[in-house]
Amino acid sequence: MVAFTSQRPRLTVLGTGYLGATHAVCMAELGYEVLGVDVDEAKIAKLNGGQVPFHELGLEALLVRNLASGRLRFTTDHAEAARFGDVHFVCVGTPQKKDSLAADLTYVESAVLSLARHLDRRALVVGKSTVPVGTAERVEAVLHANSPAGNEVEVAWNPEFLREGFAVEDTLRPDRLVFGVKSGWAKDMLDATYRGVFELARAEDREVPVVVTDFATAELVKVSANAFLATKISFINAMAEVCEASGADVTELARAIGYDVRIGSAFLRAGVGFGGGCLPKDIRAFRARAAELGVGHALDFLSEVDKINDRRRQRALDLATELAGGSLAGVKVGVLGATFKPNSDDVRDSPALAITAMAHQAGAVVTVYDPQGTDNARRALPDVAYASSLDEAADGAEVVLLLTEWEEFRHVEPLALAEVVARTRIVDGRNCLDPAVWRAAGWELRLLGRP
Ligand code: UGA
Repeated sequence: MVAFTSQRPRLTVLGTGYLGATHAVCMAELGYEVLGVDVDEAKIAKLNGGQVPFHELGLEALLVRNLASGRLRFTTDHAEAARFGDVHFVCVGTPQKKDSLAADLTYVESAVLSLARHLDRRALVVGKSTVPVGTAERVEAVLHANSPAGNEVEVAWNPEFLREGFAVEDTLRPDRLVFGVKSGWAKDMLDATYRGVFELARAEDREVPVVVTDFATAELVKVSANAFLATKISFINAMAEVCEASGADVTELARAIGYDVRIGSAFLRAGVGFGGGCLPKDIRAFRARAAELGVGHALDFLSEVDKINDRRRQRALDLATELAGGSLAGVKVGVLGATFKPNSDDVRDSPALAITAMAHQAGAVVTVYDPQGTDNARRALPDVAYASSLDEAADGAEVVLLLTEWEEFRHVEPLALAEVVARTRIVDGRNCLDPAVWRAAGWELRLLGRP
């Protein structure tokens, strides 16, 4: 049975980025006492003050409510975390290394070591970060070697599948849970930790399937899920290339194949491709790890997936150049969207921002508007102008590039926009506009994968 006195274990969450902050807040919302931990003092001060340091729908209201309830706090003190927690979640980032495809595990190692030094009683350390297979074993070795409680400290791997923009919903109502464990105690602790999730599901007449497995499988589930999603997107974008060469329409093709339940219609939206802090670096780290394991050839196709994805960025730029009459030099370009997807302020590996940088490189005079991502975009790409509204970005533009499918852009009125621009020419990089309506309003339109 579980070895804690209260009904529910006390939780800590190491790392308060997109994943950790959301996890900490949502677990508090489910009734747990939670302590969030980060080395970034400014971030911790913000969170303790009721401010979420990034844009995620609905998260700030839950943060404020749970701070007020007294169940949720944030600290930079690992000793306090070790005293407080029965279960410690590791949610730090695993970005791509600067000089290779592999994942940088520095933050995982330092978070685990900082905690280990203070762990003097039985506890469960649960990895949630996306890591190369084999990391859980290393984490366990670090904990056993450095914790005063030694082998009393156990490890579990519990990958996270939340999507930015739906993070709260995905955390409270996950479509599955994966528990990589070595002991019955670890499994019982995870059951107790997720009791709130199971109770919510029961109240809503749902079930949350749980896959109980070993460390390696749990680690691989996460990267293989993201590899599959990236492959699905690149598959449809490869079809877009063939459609472009043959005069076919990739959106109709996607709709038609998506009716086959074995294929499914999700993640078949052709456009400028995938980006973000997860899919791009995860497929690269997966390839690097497979190569280390001597099975690099098994994942050679992921290199193609990456290349197809990159080619879409060039294609969008080529369409803009074509619309501009063969050169972007000196051409006023209004860019709609900077984030890697709507309802996020995240610009990491964003196709929109990459294409914007390429247009700027080609000599275009670029003004960008994004509903939430401007601050992050400006930091990543300071050399272009940023507008505070759609109209301001489009004002006097000779070509408009729609690169992130925010609601605001999907519903823009083509006749109204025509009043603002210098030339009615637009590239729809996300296939989110109705070409018939835009053409009827006098726009010259270029699309990816469609005539
Ligand atoms: C992704 C996964 O979907 C999550 O399950 C996973 O937990 C997360 O990574 C992670 O590893 O943490 P996320 O990065 O939030 O989530 O974004 P997605 O919704 O997967 O979108 C990724 C990119 O693919 C975006 O740039 C989006 O515009 C693009 N995309 C998506 C397409 O181009 N076409 C599609 O049909 C779908």
